[in-house]
Amino acid sequence: MTFTRKLSIIAMGCALAGATLTATAQTQQSSSQPIPTKQELANKPWMNTKLSAHERTQLVLKEMTVDEKLSLLMGYFGTDAPWKNFTRPAESYPQSAGFVYGVPRLGIPHIWQADAGVGVASQSGPNVRERTALPSGMATAATWNPQVGFEGGAMIGSEARTSGFNVLLAGGVNLVREPRNGRNFEYGGEDPYLAGVMVGHQIKGVQSNNIVSTLKHFAYNDQETGRFNLNVTIDEAAGRMSDLLALQFAYEIGNPGSVMCSYNRVYGVYGCESDYLLNQVLKNDWGFKGWVMSDWGATHSTVPAANNGLDQQSGFPFDVSAYFKEPLKEAVANGWVSQARFDDMAGRVLFALFDKGVIDNPVPKSSNNIDFKKHALITQKDAEEAIVLLKNDKLLPLVNSAKKIAIIGSHANVGVLSGGGSSQVYPLGGVAVSGLGPKIFPGPMVYYPSSPMKALEARLPDARITFDEGSNVQAAAALAVESDLVLVFANQWTAESVDAASLALPDNQDALIAAVAKANKKTIVVLQTGGAITMPWLHDVGAVVEAWYPGTSGGEAIARVLTGEVNPSGHLPITFPAAESQLPRAKVDGYPEVKDQRFEVNYTEGATVGYKWFDAHKYTPLFPFGYGLSYTDFEFSDLKTTIKNDQLNISFNIKNIGTVAGKDVAQVYIAPLDTKWEAPKRLGAFQKVDLKPGESTQVSVNVDSRLLAMYQSKSKTWTIAKGQYEVILAKSATEPQSSTKVKIPARTLDVNGK
Ligand code: BGC
Repeated sequence: MTFTRKLSIIAMGCALAGATLTATAQTQQSSSQPIPTKQELANKPWMNTKLSAHERTQLVLKEMTVDEKLSLLMGYFGTDAPWKNFTRPAESYPQSAGFVYGVPRLGIPHIWQADAGVGVASQSGPNVRERTALPSGMATAATWNPQVGFEGGAMIGSEARTSGFNVLLAGGVNLVREPRNGRNFEYGGEDPYLAGVMVGHQIKGVQSNNIVSTLKHFAYNDQETGRFNLNVTIDEAAGRMSDLLALQFAYEIGNPGSVMCSYNRVYGVYGCESDYLLNQVLKNDWGFKGWVMSDWGATHSTVPAANNGLDQQSGFPFDVSAYFKEPLKEAVANGWVSQARFDDMAGRVLFALFDKGVIDNPVPKSSNNIDFKKHALITQKDAEEAIVLLKNDKLLPLVNSAKKIAIIGSHANVGVLSGGGSSQVYPLGGVAVSGLGPKIFPGPMVYYPSSPMKALEARLPDARITFDEGSNVQAAAALAVESDLVLVFANQWTAESVDAASLALPDNQDALIAAVAKANKKTIVVLQTGGAITMPWLHDVGAVVEAWYPGTSGGEAIARVLTGEVNPSGHLPITFPAAESQLPRAKVDGYPEVKDQRFEVNYTEGATVGYKWFDAHKYTPLFPFGYGLSYTDFEFSDLKTTIKNDQLNISFNIKNIGTVAGKDVAQVYIAPLDTKWEAPKRLGAFQKVDLKPGESTQVSVNVDSRLLAMYQSKSKTWTIAKGQYEVILAKSATEPQSSTKVKIPARTLDVNGK
């Protein structure tokens, strides 16, 4: 129930205390004007699809009253919040994220908002909608396959549409700067280019359904500890080359209708009233024409927020006041917020709705009319390409010869784990294990009913598979002794609003794995984690598979990879540190959280994030960024570079030199030889290829010029220094295969790399 969210929000230190508004009355629609027929509407000038979204916006704006414009700027929680005496708007969908009143008399639909990046989520409670869940965002990034990102986005976008939602709060691309961040699973990894490309394609996929996707959380919401209270400082140029660059790539590729500003402060100012972030970077520099919505509870004022770039308040009553309701009307009447800005705010919402086809293709009333079978295969394919084989001492793929197999831990007899919080999607048929995890937000802990064990049994008919829940180390080790082969399923549940205390597996699982591996050398560890973890037992186990949170078909996907029906092709979108002492900070700033305590987070490492940090400090990670094994081998050759029309192009050949078909991810890193960057090298381009045994293919990739440049804050330009650069063709950040040098002339690019 929503009650759960209340308790946790208070526990999280949200500034809700003292709010006195009775929100119920606030959600009543003011306009009682008659609603025109379809035919009457079709003849309105702004419904002329031949006109541009901008022209249509201007035409309809002229017809709108102040109250109608105002209604577009105020969003409500789509779930009852009894602790604030708030009842969700009658027109909203139960247990949904949000709702905004449209202007039906002018053909402007209501806005129905659902979370999030892996599918159509529900707020916890008795009547969750059952939908398909993709693997975590981190997992999809691990596919290094933008097409997979697009197809997953298109699938969850279609479920959002069928469920009656015209805004999906997907598109999370906060850079994985802090490996212990509890929401890393929602994002696209540590490299701005990989993350931006993958999330950008997902946004594009979502919006291919004529609905809006968001891009979030803008910006620097890189840890959950103290997210409402912390203040981020980072060198401006470094930010443009890291967190903001990831958002910029995703924005350019995905062209989202909406951007969600974040809870935290940046340079002393709340993300949702930051002139720098919203007006300067997003709207002015990047040219964003859609609307900025606040995160739920991230609006803190009327005049500063409106003037500094926030267009729509979201999720009332999470904020102290309905700042964008009567107070905004008053601010406009008094000229504190100009009429032009007020029109711009409403116009931005309208523009995105026209531009993404929301107005011309109204969403149907919510139904369950979904082809779940088809969608199960889409999420399964994503999971199969996402799973990363980290170690394999010839134990995998499993053959049908082991007679006695033990499966230990993680409820692997019944399901697979998912990440928690507002992005929680509930599966068809109900959760696999009930009553797990916190009773309040970000709980519950949800296992999807896709059993790795059952999927393995179906594929290994001659094996006798025994399950042990893993809670008793001795019992698990005893089972391991009498088995031919052991699969330990280990997990780390991470969730919104809390960071991981450390990178160690929780709940004594390190000891469990160590004991099992001691008892049986043929131990395979299957991980379901939000991101990186440490592995003190790594040398003692025979194989390790990172399955992330693999989504509602995850059990099937894991079994297919383990048995070799699918050749693993996922590569890490993050670095796995060998120890936390290798990280920029010993612990997450502000951890453990103290309620309502404001604190500073200074990203002194700047753009030197992830593998860049490890390179710069010559640290050897446990597993490097970009790493991933296969059941076959690939050979790279013929590396060549050309520069044509200022565009650096890199071509090479990849051959599958093994005996089974497989996919590989070729990675191109660029290292400056005559100038210094924030790190010795950057990922410049990548390409996933699919090859039969003996087959080879020619690959040609372009490097975005920003990835060759340093950002200059004063001039708002990207400058490429003249000189020699090394182009490294690699299997991961630490596995170069071949390299060549290229001379690049000096160049200055505008803020968008043009
Ligand atoms: C999260 C957002 C989410 C919103 C609506 C917030 O707590 O940070 O990502 O979209 O809630 O549920």
